[in-house]
Amino acid sequence: MLNFQYHNPTRYVYGPGEHHRIGALLKPFASKVLLHYGGGSVKRTGLYNAVVASLEAAGIDFIELSGVKPNPSLSLVRKGIDLCRREQVDLVLAVGGGSVIDSAKGIALGVHAPIDVWQYYTDCIDDIRHDVLPVATILTLPAAGSENSPNTVLTDEEHELKLGYGHSKLRPLLSIVNPELFLTLPPNQMANGASDMLCHIFERYFTNTGDTQLSDALSEATMRTIMQQALVLAANPTDLNAWGQLGLSGTIAHNDLLGIGREQSWACHMLEHELSAVYDVPHGAGLAVIVPPYMEATWPHNPGIFYQWATNVMGVTPSRNTEAVIREGIARLRSWYRAIGLPQTMQELGIPADANFTRMAESACQRSGGPGNTLLGIYPFNAREAEAILRAAVAP
Ligand code: NZQ
Ligand code: ZN
Repeated sequence: MLNFQYHNPTRYVYGPGEHHRIGALLKPFASKVLLHYGGGSVKRTGLYNAVVASLEAAGIDFIELSGVKPNPSLSLVRKGIDLCRREQVDLVLAVGGGSVIDSAKGIALGVHAPIDVWQYYTDCIDDIRHDVLPVATILTLPAAGSENSPNTVLTDEEHELKLGYGHSKLRPLLSIVNPELFLTLPPNQMANGASDMLCHIFERYFTNTGDTQLSDALSEATMRTIMQQALVLAANPTDLNAWGQLGLSGTIAHNDLLGIGREQSWACHMLEHELSAVYDVPHGAGLAVIVPPYMEATWPHNPGIFYQWATNVMGVTPSRNTEAVIREGIARLRSWYRAIGLPQTMQELGIPADANFTRMAESACQRSGGPGNTLLGIYPFNAREAEAILRAAVAP
């Protein structure tokens, strides 16, 4: 296990009905709030009215900025920054999924910044010497884990560039996770979310770091829970307990508790961000297409961790034939993706066979941080090898 520090200051409020308390919970921290949300689901579900009533009851002034799209845009973040500066907002309240929360973090970061906010993402600036506005969230989609992560992912649509940025100052001050708010999600969003949270664990679990028994065991329990509860929800989307388990799993999967003391990869995320930057595909669906071929290329470089996963998580019977066990584990993962309705080929994802996979692989390798422009992870795949992984997902 490697040395590590873990600091997680987010106040996590879980349970049915808790969103009605948002005004009272924010009162000690804010007098004027930016209420930030997406394309309208919060209005259709009645959540918007409940939040406004709670803010008003607590005497908290607010302005609004709506219209966050999936794969949130840099242009809306810049608009939000201008608005917050003009209106002297002191907290950003994100009501939505990962896209709304990430957009809120971008705004919070930029309001007092002496430079354009995009520079943090392009230059991975570690040293933030100015105030960052606090962010509070009411989660409506368990997936990205942004409600408790220090990360934000934005897309510069003009240059087809999707970049993430992480800093401890971006962990939310407060997050409300109420599984009742997930009941209105369409089945594909449940599946996308489950795929994303599962991959957040893969990116940490599949590592060359040894002596990680505790975080291995926590990771395995969380992976099994995600896979089981997603199947429950695919059969019965109104199961509130399953939504609660999935919601909590999504947070645990990405608040980095499971990543402590380990080398991490993020190779599949790097590849997926290339797909969604150009083709605007849902992040979790893109991951479902990339993960199996990435695993097939990676396992020979560390069969031990893949064998452990196949037996402890995928339920494959132990055997001396390590390769057969691992291949069965990957086959079962593919079946699980299919069972919850996720795509398994580029074409099913809406990406044509003649897409520019060469450029995407080169760009992912440049950004990933592996030695000499390779993908960071168990094995440092170069651009040619990364391209082969992408092409392996093209249907014959
Ligand atoms: O915009 P509205 O109308 O609200 O509709 C949304 C959106 O169309 C809808 N939705 C959300 N809650 C709903 C609902 N519809 C009905 N009922 C509800 N309760 O769902 C659609 C997708 O929402 P989105 O926020 O885009 O999904 P998700 O939470 O999967 O977030 C995806 C984004 O997060 C980034 C991804 O790259 C992607 O841009 N990620 C952020 C991370 C982080 N900050 O740590 C880590 C992840 O790896 C990920 O990269
Ligand atoms: Zn993700």
